[in-house]
Amino acid sequence: MTTFDTPFDTAETDRLLTTTRSVRRRLDLTRPVPKAVIEEALEIAVQAPTANDQQNWRWLVVTEQDVKDQLAELFDISWQFHQKEVWTGAGRRRNVPQARRNNASAAALAESIAKVPVLVIPCVLGRPPDIGAIDAQWGADPRVRTGRAEHGEAVEGVRIGAMRASNFYGSIFPAIWSFQLALRSRGLGSTISCMHLPFERQVGNLLGIPAGVTQICMVPVAYTVGTDFRPAKRHAARERTCWERWHA
Ligand SMILES: Cc1cc2nc3c(=O)[nH]c(=O)nc-3n(C[C@H](O)[C@H](O)[C@H](O)COP(=O)(O)O)c2cc1C
Repeated sequence: MTTFDTPFDTAETDRLLTTTRSVRRRLDLTRPVPKAVIEEALEIAVQAPTANDQQNWRWLVVTEQDVKDQLAELFDISWQFHQKEVWTGAGRRRNVPQARRNNASAAALAESIAKVPVLVIPCVLGRPPDIGAIDAQWGADPRVRTGRAEHGEAVEGVRIGAMRASNFYGSIFPAIWSFQLALRSRGLGSTISCMHLPFERQVGNLLGIPAGVTQICMVPVAYTVGTDFRPAKRHAARERTCWERWHA
């Protein structure tokens, strides 16, 4: 608990931050979601940081039933494949109660996805960087090897790919999380789902998304049944935090 002076009511902000769950089973599939709520939450979301302030996101909001039905079909094929090929190979994870609960919850979403009032697909302009190719390209660039020669420093082996990858995905997930927080504070629930991404091209054709644009995930949105969500069981941060030097 904070004992410092704070400019916010941290009891309330901490409650929001610690109880915003991935909601799949407790989505109210019958209650309409006003367009204005989505718009408001997205305006909050775009206050999130992006690398170089590029703001190169697009938010595709789907509410039409026939389109949701088509998305649900692709979602279901992917879900079945995931269950057969990925989840069954998940080994020990399958015996972890939390993982089993999560999988059951994801199954419920696969069942109901067509009925979720709003499906938001956050997109990024451009394609994900090919880390290996970028590293190879920059590694071969003589400027990289000699750029700081005046300081007598060798900079060979510089890796730009990881930076680009971090910038690419890191410039959308903070906004997605802010969107989820803004929804939660208004009584709505959501989750990040990557299930449709094996069919990114087909979904792109269905929604008219250009080939050079990357779909990041799908965020199904609905009012929640009740609002009494709780903090999740997590490993304590202090058990996973190293101060000053890495230690196991
Ligand atoms: C990058 C990312 C991808 C995710 N992909 C999926 C997904 O495909 N399907 C799903 O149901 N949940 C997905 N989730 C949600 C996680 O399963 C969920 O956050 C995790 O189980 C913890 O549960 P909680 O969010 O309720 O605390 C994803 C979350 C993140 C951050």
